[in-house]
Amino acid sequence: MKRNTIATLLKSNVSSAPVYVKGWVKTFRANRFISLNDGSTLANIQCVLDFENTDESTLKKITTGAAIAVQGILIESQGQGQKVEIQVENIKILGEANPNEYPIQPKKHSLEFLRENAHLRIRTNTFSAIMRMRSALSFAVHKYFQENGFNYVHTPIITGTDAEGAGEMFSVSSLKNDSLPKTEDGKVDYTKDFFGKETHLTVSGQLEAETYAMALGKVYTFGPTFRAENSNTSRHLAEFWMIEPEVAFNDLIDNMDLAEDFIKYTLQYVLDNCKEDIEFLENRLLQEDKTKPLADRNEMTLTERLQFVANNEFKRISYTEAFDILRNCKPNKKKKFKYPIVDWGVDLQSEHERYLVEKHFKCPVILFDYPATIKAFYMRLNDDGKTVRAMDVLFPGIGEIVGGSQREERLDVLQNKMKALDIDPQELWWYLDTRKFGTAVHSGFGLGFERLVLFATGMSNIRDVIPFPRTPMNAAF
Ligand code: 4AD
Ligand code: MG
Repeated sequence: MKRNTIATLLKSNVSSAPVYVKGWVKTFRANRFISLNDGSTLANIQCVLDFENTDESTLKKITTGAAIAVQGILIESQGQGQKVEIQVENIKILGEANPNEYPIQPKKHSLEFLRENAHLRIRTNTFSAIMRMRSALSFAVHKYFQENGFNYVHTPIITGTDAEGAGEMFSVSSLKNDSLPKTEDGKVDYTKDFFGKETHLTVSGQLEAETYAMALGKVYTFGPTFRAENSNTSRHLAEFWMIEPEVAFNDLIDNMDLAEDFIKYTLQYVLDNCKEDIEFLENRLLQEDKTKPLADRNEMTLTERLQFVANNEFKRISYTEAFDILRNCKPNKKKKFKYPIVDWGVDLQSEHERYLVEKHFKCPVILFDYPATIKAFYMRLNDDGKTVRAMDVLFPGIGEIVGGSQREERLDVLQNKMKALDIDPQELWWYLDTRKFGTAVHSGFGLGFERLVLFATGMSNIRDVIPFPRTPMNAAF
């Protein structure tokens, strides 16, 4: 008999139909009621056992976490709490889960404990809901771009360039540590390495994506990105997934419009398609809020927050306007910021970004025209000579979710900038070629996928929205 998924059974009309399901036991009560989940949906199906006709050794093996196969009849439920249930005719234990060893018991586990059991945490309601939403959001990303004429480009993971110029890269090498070839001046001789040069894991697919935008017009990447920044925060990962659209002939305003429209689309998509999971996570948050002081509680429910962002315009202001707001705000005057806002040109920290979004504007904010000195080399210089056409999208509870810009399309300006920053033009000869041959205004941005999943699920630690997080001192699993 073909296996039915629990999702379809729960949606189906009762007709005393023979059914066959497989899944993992959530709970087993009174030697009679099995709550079974197969991952197809958040909800469990109740399987009612005729225990008098089930042998003792089988009954003992029906424990939380065990895999079982159940053949029976789908009937209207006799009890409360579910519409349908399965009257079990035959049960088979597929894989036992010793209750003395299985860590995921039917009780509340801390998120920290579950992180240490990342290979099993997905069997909890919270993590199955998060990961189903992560999957739905990935689909929404592709759907949005594919429906809007973008081509998906697979940019390389191993690169020789540092797109962001921040030097936060992991090396890729096939040289053996105990016999490193050296040059005459004692440095590692990378000409003897696999690629004949020093290479790294990519920090961004942007530079390669730009070359594709200058031929295919509209492109996007969606792939893993690596940063060896030693920031042990709830918003940084060493390995994360980034979405990077790049569009020929788009200026900064078009770029902002695209970012806003794209984010709203993905959130509306989960609102429409992940109702059950959102509802579960929303209740989880409400419970969590009850343990917090009033001031730290969320003003809106998760659904309200998603709807709010999906339906309201993002506020757009320049760095300089934001700087003035921040310099004159109460927390700055009362020296509440860890990094006080004094001189124009400082990089904004997460505390500043969150003040603007959560306290001042109370909505997502797009900051643009940042000081050139705090942004990457490829951003287009404004006529004032000191700001660049950069934009960051800032989100409540998250801070920066998107970073992007209009690109410097003028060869001479770009070359001067690279010289000033000591970036080797020889390394980027191919990038410079796009400015030599048919250069044009173009723009793009990068959205940190996990930060979007954080927002959509209402979770607060980025380690909880990626299956196996990579962070400083942690690459388990
Ligand atoms: O602002 P970033 O560094 O921009 C770029 O890499 C550009 N090349 C993008 C582009 O224009 N094509 O990173 C973009 C986004 C950030 O806004 C943030 O959401 C996310 O990537 N991000 C991280 N997410 C998780 N962990 C980290 N360590 C992250 N670093 C950046
Ligand atoms: Mg950034």
